[in-house]
Amino acid sequence: MARVVHVDLGERGYAIRIGRDITPGETLDARAARRVLLVSDSNVEPLYGERCRRALAGRGQETVTAVVKAGEDSKSIENVKSLCEKAAAAGLDRSCAVLALGGGMVGDLAGFAAAVFLRGVKLVQAPTSLLAMVDSSVGGKTAINLSAGKNLVGAFHQPVEVTADLDVLATLPEREYVSGLAEVVKYGIIWDAVLFETLEKQAEAVLKRDASLLEDIVARCCAIKAEIVAMDEHENGVRSILNFGHTLGHAIETVAGYGRLLHGEAVALGAAYAARVSRAEKGLPEEAARRIVGLLERFGLPASLNAAGLGAASWEPVRRAMAADKKTRGGLPRFVLAESVGSVVFGCEVGEETLAKAFEGLRES
Ligand code: GLY
Repeated sequence: MARVVHVDLGERGYAIRIGRDITPGETLDARAARRVLLVSDSNVEPLYGERCRRALAGRGQETVTAVVKAGEDSKSIENVKSLCEKAAAAGLDRSCAVLALGGGMVGDLAGFAAAVFLRGVKLVQAPTSLLAMVDSSVGGKTAINLSAGKNLVGAFHQPVEVTADLDVLATLPEREYVSGLAEVVKYGIIWDAVLFETLEKQAEAVLKRDASLLEDIVARCCAIKAEIVAMDEHENGVRSILNFGHTLGHAIETVAGYGRLLHGEAVALGAAYAARVSRAEKGLPEEAARRIVGLLERFGLPASLNAAGLGAASWEPVRRAMAADKKTRGGLPRFVLAESVGSVVFGCEVGEETLAKAFEGLRES
């Protein structure tokens, strides 16, 4: 039995199915989408590729599989080209679908290929990491990286279905699982103080991947994201709150080199940074900032430069990378800042001095 969360986007709306032992592709019209390009990576495909192909075959669908190397480096224009070449060679037409089986990297890459191949074919997201389940598979953002920064080339392309089989989290390496918790904490900070409190109270059970708690948490995060995306699909306003912690996070990923920190780890550091900036700019109470840093640390996420293994990082390259962020206007990054746990404001301009001081503050703990 799957729990279903709807993303209400009219004719582009879709269901997020969350459950156990559920397979992707069930909402595809098997007669129309006869062929599916299954995109996965070298870690995930050996574990779940065959099960996925069997499920599709059982519905009369033929699968062509493309496997990319695991890791953020695979989010490249070269891989988009090779996926599109593979789709073309396999005779995929506009009625066919791309199925992204993997974590955030696979979802972003395969999603972008689905957005541009034949000017757009159907996309099914089958997230296999916690991070992809609660964030990147939902909402239609697809992208690849440039050397100048993360996700600088992309498209909005909503999936027709998201299927999150929680069983696959059992094989997720600990570091990857914990990295996903950074995005979960983010939902507590930006939207839901009750969720944040639940995470604080049940941190141990969360770390032990307690099955029913995890289902509740994934469903709650997806419901929050669905509500925000339905209000502002193309990020003209409120959707930008989902980027809490990401302005510094993306810059750190760029400066440290893709793959050194996992995305969630960089977001955790960015959230600790945003909490410091929020203290200075929005009067975030010290107690709230302490709770944010405390919860991140409780989960084993880095909330200081030392904890992230970046004790020697200097401000200047990070500042430059932040200025290249795609949410920058006129060279100034815009921040999402917290007023309290559960409430944030977006589009905040922050002076250079405050930004530099908050970065130096990240050396403290
Ligand atoms: N990951 C942020 C968003 O989807 O808007």
